[in-house]
Amino acid sequence: MYKISDLQKIVEKELGKQQFVVEPKGLYEPIDYVMGMGGKRIRPTLCLAGCYLFTDEIEQAVKPSLSLEIFHNFTLLHDDIMDNADVRRNQPTVHKKWDENTGILSGDAMLIKAYQYAAQINGQHLKKVLDLFSQTAIEVCEGQQYDMEFETRDDVKVDDYLTMIRLKTAVLLAASLKTGAIIGDASDKDADLLYQFGENIGLAFQLQDDFLDVYGNIETFGKAIGGDIVANKKTFLLLNALQLASGSLQEELLTWINAKEFDAEEKIESVRNIYNSLKVDELAREKMNFYFEKAISALNEVNGRDSMKEELRQFAIKLIERSR
Ligand code: IPE
Ligand code: IPE
Ligand code: MG
Ligand code: MG
Ligand code: MG
Repeated sequence: MYKISDLQKIVEKELGKQQFVVEPKGLYEPIDYVMGMGGKRIRPTLCLAGCYLFTDEIEQAVKPSLSLEIFHNFTLLHDDIMDNADVRRNQPTVHKKWDENTGILSGDAMLIKAYQYAAQINGQHLKKVLDLFSQTAIEVCEGQQYDMEFETRDDVKVDDYLTMIRLKTAVLLAASLKTGAIIGDASDKDADLLYQFGENIGLAFQLQDDFLDVYGNIETFGKAIGGDIVANKKTFLLLNALQLASGSLQEELLTWINAKEFDAEEKIESVRNIYNSLKVDELAREKMNFYFEKAISALNEVNGRDSMKEELRQFAIKLIERSR
């Protein structure tokens, strides 16, 4: 009987077996670097869990699960260029260690590799899995585009933000579970319920990531703190602060958002203080719990192995409790 931790170990072991580096090394070494620098391996683990809910035979899901992790790491390479991020998983990002062109091209190669891995399954499930993969990948691009556009827009609403994080983050977690379910021969209904579980967990997860970008501990978070504030990312925290602030607090917040030249640390500290006075961190927590509950209701309806459903419940709790 597998636990989630066993599935995570299978993922780690299989990843370790992959030979990413061939010639030209300049293209492949960054792939090996990013794939080897750790990470929580959430997506491939969810894929295997999604499969194991319905069958003991999870081997078929292993390569597709790696495909999801490779795709995720590809998005990180490009995301870190787009977000000007220097540190990921406590190490220099690829475009810092090498350069931006390397981040772009090695990223492109990873997207192609991801397809190659996804295609390594029986013909029976191939079309469904590849269609889901393509649909998800294009949605992630849409989400990333909204994320960038929102930086310079001043009319972004909370609903726009939720659409954006659903696209850039939630659909990949959802698709990971559903990919496993498809390979495990789940019914369409169960596969869709799992998708809903993943989507709602994904929304809570990105809310948490945005929260940790402001309040996290640099060592456990593994990324620089405050990057979202510096870039005027329209997070749930900022959107609520903009709505709630009045008088001098509103003036101060708008001054920081419109500032062209500023000391980054000073901006981060000041905006965080504004968030604290408005208690928007508590609103974010409430919203996370709301999506967590929605996720659990969907999971409860899934007709699959009970022990793995319980494991997924625990996994979801841990995911949104990622320590500060
Ligand atoms: C980072 O994802 C990008 C987001 C969707 C927030 P993870 O937090 O899963 O990153 P790793 O793979 O564990 O480093
Ligand atoms: C994550 O958004 C979305 C993708 C990587 C597709 P973030 O920009 O918040 O992710 P981190 O914080 O850099 O990991
Ligand atoms: Mg980003
Ligand atoms: Mg980023
Ligand atoms: Mg983030």
